[in-house]
Amino acid sequence: MNRALTLFCFGLLGLAGAAGSSRADQAAPPNVGEAAPAYTADGKLVFPSDYREWIYLSSGLGMTYSAPGAPSGAAPNFTNVFVKPSAYREFVRTGHWPDKTVFVLEVRDSTDHGSILKGGRYQTQVVGYDVEVKDQERFPERWRFFNYATTTGEMPAGDPVPKAAGCLACHSKNAAVENTFVQFYPSLLDVAKAKGTLNASYLKAEASEAPAASGTPH
Ligand code: HEC
Repeated sequence: MNRALTLFCFGLLGLAGAAGSSRADQAAPPNVGEAAPAYTADGKLVFPSDYREWIYLSSGLGMTYSAPGAPSGAAPNFTNVFVKPSAYREFVRTGHWPDKTVFVLEVRDSTDHGSILKGGRYQTQVVGYDVEVKDQERFPERWRFFNYATTTGEMPAGDPVPKAAGCLACHSKNAAVENTFVQFYPSLLDVAKAKGTLNASYLKAEASEAPAASGTPH
């Protein structure tokens, strides 16, 4: 979209916003994604269902971490990563994730046929969600991982994933900034380099080109 058209569209949105502001049901929700993570009484994370209005970081396609050439008949999944807008802004400013940062990793199936497609792949239905929270008051290890399997889009409160599930083990060992895989989010990797906030373990592994982690992530 060219700049003039963009400005025109924003202008229209502004008018629509002003016209609708007297009606609560039409007003834009204030501070989308800014609520602190919410938990149920038994300690499950309430799924942050507005995550599609958050900041989009990047997508992986068919990422695996086991030996190359491992047979896999399944279509590759896309992993779409979103982060709370206020946490994104703080990261861009400082290179660190603030307390109450929340990430959603949306896993989608893919296909290579449909409509006019002659090559390439595109995303189809959601097959699962992984969520990660930094909450220093609540968790002694500061970061906690939650897994939601779904084929319906209906989100129950997720079970806290036991530490033995390996989420924290892989993330804390291999991630570039704190427990997050900033090495796979190109715009944030530039920020972390500029702010000098890359993990020492990541820099060491990069320098020696150590073999990557093995395991099944998402
Ligand atoms: C073998 C290593 C590995 C394991 C195990 C793993 N992950 Fe990840 N995780 C990754 C990688 C690599 C990425 C970057 C994905 C991308 O770019 O699409 C990632 C990204 C994420 C993100 C996006 C934010 C970030 O940290 O970069 C979330 C949320 C997440 N994982 C949650 C989980 C949960 C929950 C589990 C356990 C159920 C889990 N992960 C297990 C490797 C792993």
